[in-house]
Amino acid sequence: MKIQAVRGMQDLLPEKQKIFRHVEDVVRRVFSAYGYGEVDFPVIEYTQLFSRSVGEATDIVEKEMYTFNDRSGDSVTLRPEGTAGCVRMAQENGMLFNQIQRLWYAGPMFRYERPQKGRYRQFFQIGGECFGMAGPDIDAELIFLTARIWQELEITDQVTLELNSMGSVESRKAYEQSLVEFLSGSRSSLDPDSQRRLDSNPLRILDSKDPNTQAILSDAPVLIDFLDHESAEHFAQLRRMLDNAQLAYEVNPTIVRGLDYYNGTVFEWTTTALGAQGAVCGGGRYDGLVEQLGGRPTPAVGFAMGLDRLALLILEQKNPPGDSGIDVFIASMGGIARAQALLLGEKLRDQFQEVRVQVHCGNGKFKAQLKKADQSGAQIALILGEDEVEAGEISVKNLRDESVQYRITNKDLARVIDSIVVSR
Ligand code: HAM
Repeated sequence: MKIQAVRGMQDLLPEKQKIFRHVEDVVRRVFSAYGYGEVDFPVIEYTQLFSRSVGEATDIVEKEMYTFNDRSGDSVTLRPEGTAGCVRMAQENGMLFNQIQRLWYAGPMFRYERPQKGRYRQFFQIGGECFGMAGPDIDAELIFLTARIWQELEITDQVTLELNSMGSVESRKAYEQSLVEFLSGSRSSLDPDSQRRLDSNPLRILDSKDPNTQAILSDAPVLIDFLDHESAEHFAQLRRMLDNAQLAYEVNPTIVRGLDYYNGTVFEWTTTALGAQGAVCGGGRYDGLVEQLGGRPTPAVGFAMGLDRLALLILEQKNPPGDSGIDVFIASMGGIARAQALLLGEKLRDQFQEVRVQVHCGNGKFKAQLKKADQSGAQIALILGEDEVEAGEISVKNLRDESVQYRITNKDLARVIDSIVVSR
């Protein structure tokens, strides 16, 4: 049998990896501009962590987790998301009680979903989680931070912010009850998934893609009308903060998120450019989760963005960012020159840490080497032939302006390379 990648798992080839790196560089810069600390936690946790936080009746826990027994018989799960692990880490390391934390992480997550464009079984998230702050100001900060990331990635005009409040646990229960009452009358007209959810997780029915169910929902009671006073005030203040910053958003009362731990503010950044998988970032408050996992009550809020979807969005732009990755290509002809070319490459890397050099290796006619040099995206080719070696010189070919070629001695090399660094 020919061995292939596991279904739904993506290989990241250089072109896409470059975009991933670019996004990560931007995100790292932005998080650091807001004083967030980077953390990392394992991709495997005990299964209970996810069933108790994400929620037993969610799609993720019901049917999407990669769960197995390890060799000692413990049930472990490849993390389907980062919040649960981040809370576990923060609590286990004594980072929560009476403290304020602003943390971020990046890494692979795993969900056994039906693969399609923008939806994979291993996908990459970058997330931010904040602990110890109860007010709407930190919700606003997270939204500003994500908006800044879009701005730096130059995709601001492709994404829309959708906002909702899920209220307190009690107000949500009251809403759930009224939704169930409303939908029970039309039970048999709902899609099968929604019929099941009517008993297990009624709020998730709002997410149904079924047109019939959506038509029934158009007259359903709205979550935002059930908000308790405190949540309504929190939401109003958050909206004022966003208005003050002239940050545009839509209130979308159907955003309930697919994970159980949320309360109060929830938000999603969506795009219409990726077809069905339009959510590029989602998050919200989860003030009850730390306590639910055995810690002391700790207000919390966070978000995660999907790198795979962002990369698709960026790749669809006319001029995706990211350069070729090479500044100097070294071509050579003849055995002696070949050996010198390798040494020249090492010398340049010693002398100029920021210059990226590729030395042609293997056979290849001179013309073919220059073609490769052209395709590499490098700015110049340094050429070593027998002539050059004999004269102790190097030919320089400007790959951006084919007509320019000249010879230099070793001592001019620094000046030529410096000029590349400046113009990059
Ligand atoms: P989530 O909405 O499940 O939230 O995922 C966040 C983002 O991950 C989505 O908006 C999407 O871009 C990406 N994503 C999710 N599933 C897939 C998939 N199968 N393939 C590709 N991309 C995907 C969470 O995970 C929460 N932990 C966010 C959070 C953090 N809330 C509070 N703190």
